Order: sequence, then C-alpha cells, then structure tokens
Amino acid sequence: MDGWVWRVFTLAICSATTTDYTSSTVPITATITTTTKSPTTVTPPTTTVLKCDNGGKPENGVCICPDEWTGVTCSEENFCGEQQLGGFRFPRTPIGWFAYSEEKCEVGTSGAGKPQASARCLSINGSPGFSPPQIFQCDLTLSDIQKNLTSPADLETLATSTQILTSKAEELTAENVTAAAEIVNTLLLSANATESVRVSAVATVSQLLNATVPDDTKENNATLGLTVTLDQLSVNLSLSQKTSQSQVVQPNLVVQSAQIPAADTHGVQFTSFRGISGNFLPNRIHLNTNATQVVVENSFIADALIYIRFPPGEDARSRQTDSNVSLGFVLYQNDRFFRSKLYMRRRATIRVLSASVRGQEPNVVPQHVEMMFRPRLINGTSLYDFSCVFWNYSQKDWSTSGCSKGNTSDGLMRCFCNHTTNFAALWSYRENYEYAEALGAISIVGLSLSFLGLIVTIIHHIKEIFQKEEQTNLISVQSRLCIYFSLLAFIITFVSGVQNSSRQIDIEVQTDDRTNNLLVSDERVEPDRGSCTAVAALLHFLLMTTFMWNSVNGTQILIQKMRRSLPPLWTLLSMALGWGVPALIVAITLGVTYRVDNPLGYRQEEFCWLAALDKNKHFSFEKPLFWGFLLPVGLILIYNIILLSCFRKSFLECFTLAVLLGVSWVFGYLVLITSGTMNLVFSILFCLCTTTQGFHIFIITATTPTFRAAMSRSVQYLSSARPIRRNTRTRS
Ligand SMILES: *[C@@H]1O[C@H](CO)[C@@H](O)[C@H](O)[C@H]1NC(C)=O
Ligand SMILES: *[C@@H]1O[C@H](CO)[C@@H](O)[C@H](O)[C@H]1NC(C)=O
Ligand SMILES: *[C@@H]1O[C@H](CO)[C@@H](O)[C@H](O)[C@H]1NC(C)=O
Ligand SMILES: *[C@@H]1O[C@H](CO)[C@@H](O)[C@H](O)[C@H]1NC(C)=O
Ligand SMILES: *[C@@H]1O[C@H](CO)[C@@H](O)[C@H](O)[C@H]1NC(C)=O
Ligand SMILES: *[C@@H]1O[C@H](CO)[C@@H](O)[C@H](O)[C@H]1NC(C)=O
Ligand SMILES: *[C@@H]1O[C@H](CO)[C@@H](O)[C@H](O)[C@H]1NC(C)=O
Ligand SMILES: *[C@@H]1O[C@H](CO)[C@@H](O)[C@H](O)[C@H]1NC(C)=O
Ligand SMILES: *[C@@H]1O[C@H](CO)[C@@H](O)[C@H](O)[C@H]1NC(C)=O
Ligand SMILES: *[C@@H]1O[C@H](CO)[C@@H](O)[C@H](O)[C@H]1NC(C)=O
Ligand SMILES: *[C@@H]1O[C@H](CO)[C@@H](O)[C@H](O)[C@H]1NC(C)=O
Ligand SMILES: *[C@@H]1O[C@H](CO)[C@@H](O)[C@H](O)[C@H]1NC(C)=O
Repeated sequence: MDGWVWRVFTLAICSATTTDYTSSTVPITATITTTTKSPTTVTPPTTTVLKCDNGGKPENGVCICPDEWTGVTCSEENFCGEQQLGGFRFPRTPIGWFAYSEEKCEVGTSGAGKPQASARCLSINGSPGFSPPQIFQCDLTLSDIQKNLTSPADLETLATSTQILTSKAEELTAENVTAAAEIVNTLLLSANATESVRVSAVATVSQLLNATVPDDTKENNATLGLTVTLDQLSVNLSLSQKTSQSQVVQPNLVVQSAQIPAADTHGVQFTSFRGISGNFLPNRIHLNTNATQVVVENSFIADALIYIRFPPGEDARSRQTDSNVSLGFVLYQNDRFFRSKLYMRRRATIRVLSASVRGQEPNVVPQHVEMMFRPRLINGTSLYDFSCVFWNYSQKDWSTSGCSKGNTSDGLMRCFCNHTTNFAALWSYRENYEYAEALGAISIVGLSLSFLGLIVTIIHHIKEIFQKEEQTNLISVQSRLCIYFSLLAFIITFVSGVQNSSRQIDIEVQTDDRTNNLLVSDERVEPDRGSCTAVAALLHFLLMTTFMWNSVNGTQILIQKMRRSLPPLWTLLSMALGWGVPALIVAITLGVTYRVDNPLGYRQEEFCWLAALDKNKHFSFEKPLFWGFLLPVGLILIYNIILLSCFRKSFLECFTLAVLLGVSWVFGYLVLITSGTMNLVFSILFCLCTTTQGFHIFIITATTPTFRAAMSRSVQYLSSARPIRRNTRTRS
C-alpha cells in the first residue's frame, strides 16, 4: 500500500493530499555536507555528452557500469557467456568470478541441490573464457572435509568441495559457517596450498561474507581467526609468487599483494572503484605502487581507498637498495566477520579494509596511512556522522585510538591512522524526512468553517444552559458540548501544532566535527524535544474523546427515545467513558511506545501524529496508529453505526446523527481497502467530511428551533425592532 494513502489517513484531517499525490517519490539528494564542493561541479558539461550503454549510469562525467560491462561507456564485455563445458552448463559470469553448473546433485546424496561443478571465468590473452570445470563429489559434507584435512589429501578437491558446499550463502547455518571457516583457515595456512587452492578458499570466504546467521560465539571466533590468516596471506602471496603483484577478486572479498623496492618508493595507493552493484570485480581494483600523494581526481568513482606513505629522504636512502617491501591488502564487502558490541549496526553496510606491510628490515614503518570510504546509503537517508576505527583483536571490538577523522569531500569519508590493521569507517545515517506543507487549501477553508461553526454552536449551547429553558435537555446539551469542545480543541491543536516545529533536518550534520568518537549506532534519531510529542498525544486524546462522546451522546439519545430514564450516576459514567477511556488509551500507547531517545516509536517525524509505518514505509500493525487509534476508533464506529441503524428516522435526522456520531470516518477506512479511482473518491470524501465536521454540526444546530429562536431574539434585540410573537413551543 502506498505511503501517501497512509499519510492522508493518518493525518486525521486530509492535509497535503494534493501535494502527496504528485510528489509520491521524489528522491531527496543526499547532501553530505554543506561545505564540501565536488570538484566536478567545475566541469559539468561532460555529463551531457556522455552516454552509457548496457544500463550504465552517468555520474559526474563517468559511466558507472554494471558488473558484466566495462570501458568508458560500459560497452566492453566483462563476462564469459553462457557455456556448455564437459557436460555441464555454466551461466554467464563476470571475469574473475566462479560459475556453478546448472546441473545439481541428485536427491538422496548429502549434497542434494548443490551444483555438481564449478568453473572460473578468466581473461586469457584478453579474451574471456572458463577454466576447466572442477567436479564435486555429491556425497561430501563439511564435516567429512574437516576429517580429511588432517590426513594428507588432495587439497584442491577439498577446497573446491568446500566452495561448492557454501555456494548458497542463504542456506548456511552457524555451524556450517564455523566448519567452512575452519577448513578455509587450514587450507590457507597449509604450506602445500597451490594458487588454485587459495583462489578457491578466497571465493569460499567471499560466499561466507554473504551468509546471514545469528550471532554465534564459536562462529565469531572462527571467522575472526580467518581475518588474521587473510592478513598474513595477503603479504605472503607476494613472497611466494614470481610476479611482483597478485590479486584475487571475488564478489565480497579482495586479496591483493605487491612487492615493491624499498629504496625509491614514496607511497602506495589501493583503490576499489564503484560499479552499479557493490560487488568487487578485478577491473575495479587498482594498485598504484609509486604514488607521491593520494590521487583524488577521480575520487567520486572510488568506493574505498587506502594510501600508505613511506618515510622519505634519508630514511629511504639508508635502506638497502635491493631490499623489498611486501604489501598486502584485504578488502571486505561488509563487517560480518567483525562483530562489534559497541557499535549497533542494523541496516548500514560497513566495508573493512586492511593493509599489512612487511619489509626485510624490521623498521619499514609506514609514516602515514590515509583512507577513504564511501558510505552505501540506503534510499531516503543521508550521512549524519562517522568515526574512523580499526579492529583491536585483544579487545575484540572497534577502537579509535591512533585514528583521526578528515572531511567528507565528494561523499567519501576520510580517515587517517598511524598504524596499519583492519580499518573501517563506522557511519550513521538519518532519514530524509519529507516535511510536506501540512495544510492544503481545502483543509484551511474546511477547518476555518468548522472553527467558526463550532464557536457559534458552543456559545449557543452555553447560553441554553444558563437560560435553563424548560424544554432544554440539559444532559444531552452537556454531552454535546463535550463533543464540540473536543473537536474545537482538536482543530486548534491541529492547525497550530501538527507541523513539527523542531525538525530533525534542521539539526546540523556532524561529519565536519573532527572529534573521532566511536559511534554507538548506525541510525541517528534525535532525542525528543517534547513539543511535537505533546501535540501528537493531545491530538490522539482529543480525537478519541470526540469519538467517545459521540457514542455516549448517541447512547443517551437512544435511551431517552425509548422513553426510559437515564440510569443513576449517568453523568459520572459518561464522564468516565468520555474522558477516562481516551486518557487510558493514550497513556497505555505512550507507555508502550514512547522513549525520550527514540520518540519515533510513538509519533511521526514529518507530522506530529501517531507513527504508522515501518522502516520500509509499509503500514505496520505493530505501530501505535493501528492499535492505539484505528482499532479503538473502528470499534467505536461499529458501535455508532449500530446505534444509527436503531433510530430509523427521516433522512435529515439520520444525517444529523451520522455527523454527530462521526460516521464520515468510515470513508477513512474505505480509503484503506480500496485502490484506483475508488480510492481517490473516498480520499476526497474523507477529506471533505472530516475537515468540515464542525461546520456540519453548526448547520445542524442552526436548523434546530431553539437556535432559530435564539437567533431571532438576538436580531430583535440588536435592531430593537418590534417584538416578534413567535414562541418556541416546538419540541426538540
Ligand atoms: C578535505 O581534506 C583534504 C585533505 O585533508 C583537503 O585536501 C581538502 O581540501 C579538504 N576539502 C574540504 C572541502 O575541506
Ligand atoms: C549445515 O549444518 C546443518 C546443521 O546445522 C547440517 O544439517 C548440514 O548438513 C550442514 N551443511 C553442510 C553443507 O555441511
Ligand atoms: C605437503 O606435501 C608433501 C609432499 O608433497 C607431503 O609429504 C606433506 O604431507 C604435505 N602436507 C600436507 C599438510 O598435506
Ligand atoms: C575423504 O574421506 C572419506 C572418508 O571419510 C574418503 O572416502 C575420501 O576418499 C576422502 N577424500 C579425499 C579427497 O581424500
Ligand atoms: C549476497 O547477498 C545479496 C543480498 O542478500 C545479494 O544481492 C548478492 O547478489 C549476494 N552476492 C552473492 C555473490 O551471492
Ligand atoms: C577462540 O579461538 C582461540 C584460538 O584462536 C581459542 O583459544 C579459544 O578457545 C576460542 N574460543 C572459543 C569460545 O571457541
Ligand atoms: C606467512 O608467512 C609467515 C612467515 O613467513 C608464516 O609464519 C605464516 O604462517 C604465513 N601465513 C600464511 C597464511 O601463509
Ligand atoms: C617513483 O616515482 C618517483 C618520482 O615520482 C621516481 O623518482 C621513482 O624512481 C619512482 N620509483 C619507482 C620504483 O618507479
Ligand atoms: C625484490 O623484488 C624484485 C622483483 O620485484 C626481485 O628481483 C628482487 O630479488 C627482490 N629483492 C629481494 C631482496 O628479495
Ligand atoms: C531507490 O530510489 C530509486 C529512485 O528513487 C529507485 O529507482 C530505486 O529502486 C530505489 N531502491 C530501492 C532499493 O528502493
Ligand atoms: C587494544 O585493546 C587492549 C585492551 O583494551 C589495549 O591494551 C591495547 O592497547 C589496544 N591496542 C591498541 C593498538 O590500541
Ligand atoms: C598513534 O597515535 C596514538 C594516539 O595519538 C599514540 O598513542 C600512538 O603511540 C601512535 N602510534 C604510533 C605507531 O605512532
């Protein structure tokens, strides 16, 4: 169901109906900081010329490509096409990744449903092609593999089998992840592991990073141990390889190593570039082994970046000219292996980047480490704050010591650290609330009429009470007065307070604040400032009292019509029902949902009214609008409609009662269950009826003989005209 329908309904009085229709989903551009200026704003013309193919997105003069395409305009193939190999069918796969056969293990084997073979897509002499398929023994399980690891075995088969067994990340349990992590750890540490074993192991880790399993101590231990091994591996790779650089890139994990001469290198920069998806691909990973400074020219297409500067001058010359420095980088798609107790992460994605440096001489200490991370913002949110951290293995949590914050230029969070370990930028976001104009023209006219109508009606009834005319039904007038007062107070509160006066969006973002404190949560919710919650609670209470008094009044009329005298203590009972029940409901709702540091459990941020939608902007039955308002009001309405059907009178009287009983609110419920044109019609009817409810009450009052008599007396008094003989014998 669309968010705006709920907005209309939840607003009680149809504000901003028209703007909501047109503006449905205007994305709010995430402004990272107000002070930063993208360098690309200087040269925008390129964006107009650029045309991206194959679903690429032009951004700041560069095409951001989908996984399967590359090149300046995303027109170069970056995949192996679907192919039949050795009796297995492999789907289209980006270069560097593994494909799994469409043929699955048969039911009855322990690996039932798992692919029978895997093949890696490689770029051989510039043209993409699959490597020979690796066949999986369908009866193997992870625990079998664990047992076989202790005896000399064919590591390649074990590595492939583990990879295939973990290929469906969503099916993995915590035990599976633990077992797989232990196997992979052993494989990577094994002196006999060949390159293909390592690649397969890295691919397995990449798959494990996609598993969604609950927090599990044993699993945390195994996966955290894996990160230590990966750090070592990233440096060791360069030592065992003939080439000076090597790289394994899988969708969620990059392991890069390099060996550089220590003598005349200034610095090293490792960069992961952006794609439409967040996946890692070999063509998006770049290493510059001789960078004198961070290259930020294209920073807007970088996703994560690390720059390590080595001591210059005499230090460099004092190093032996032929000695080498080994470097290793590991980039994780998320922080799944780094489970923090200090930082509560619910929806944000945190990339973790690690750098390891090892030289032949022990004193090759990086002088300066600079990092940049691009937050992957969820739709409708913007960056609020971040902290630069590293993983402290003895503390088993993030720590900020030795790290400091930079600015957020080009939407990249900048960090500096004086050591090299597993780094991350923890960040928090906040919702981009759409503070629509609360009151549309229809509502203003309707509410003004209602306001005036109610004032006149209330004055009339008060006068009636004081004049104590015989035919006045005092108890009925009293309960009607309660309805009118509630409605009037509701309108006044609504007009003056429904628009949030202390809007979160007006509070400055914190990204320029350089104090690097550890964030406690990825969601930023401003603590309550009180006024908006007070308005919401008052509106909640007043609308509930209006409905309760409608019912009390209706019941009372029915009892009197049936010529029965009202029960004893009726006044007391009606007070308890009319004021007490709503107060109780509001108190319970507040007690259950409201917290000072998270007021949005009770109310909305855009309007001071009850919360209705969940995080995905869908209506939620767990939110107070449903159970704290719609449900009780719905029950009252059903009761009122039953009351109404008991009267069986003229159309006018029926209409009168319907207005008094608030039956027009049925349209609100019809809005919820209809769609298309009917929905629009009901929305408009609901809007018209509710805003003008007070005015209807006035019209009804104006048609009563007592009111006409009072009016004519006033006119008579004011104009001192000749006395009118009409008396007020008509019974009401
Ligand atoms: C952000 O910091 C970098 C390096 O510290 C600096 O070069 C750049 O000018 C800064 N940008 C802004 C907008 O302050
Ligand atoms: C994963 O663990 C479950 C039990 O938690 C087990 O039944 C299943 O066989 C395991 N899967 C693999 C591939 O070992
Ligand atoms: C490594 O290989 C050697 C010979 O190739 C073998 O003797 C040794 O047992 C192997 N080690 C492991 C752990 O498999
Ligand atoms: C693994 O162990 C099983 C028995 O548990 C054995 O049948 C199988 O041949 C072994 N596989 C390898 C690759 O060594
Ligand atoms: C990992 O999971 C996400 C969502 O759960 C999915 O979009 C993505 O394709 C998965 N990646 C791989 C490599 O399976
Ligand atoms: C975690 O792993 C370490 C070794 O890496 C081990 O000493 C410790 O007992 C393990 N803890 C748990 C809870 O498994
Ligand atoms: C890396 O090399 C060091 C020493 O050269 C060794 O102790 C360590 O086990 C190796 N680690 C891996 C994962 O190869
Ligand atoms: C690195 O660059 C500097 C100048 O920018 C140059 O003098 C030096 O030789 C380069 N080092 C290597 C290893 O290419
Ligand atoms: C440093 O690496 C180069 C290749 O990159 C190699 O030729 C040279 O022998 C290495 N030096 C040492 C001391 O390992
Ligand atoms: C985010 O918003 C854009 C444009 O408003 C839309 O195309 C995209 O589907 C949205 N993504 C998600 C995950 O909702
Ligand atoms: C990591 O945490 C431990 C225990 O809290 C502390 O003693 C140690 O200094 C920390 N390490 C770093 C590098 O801050
Ligand atoms: C890093 O900075 C912290 C705090 O600024 C300091 O205590 C620590 O000694 C520094 N470490 C190095 C290796 O410079």
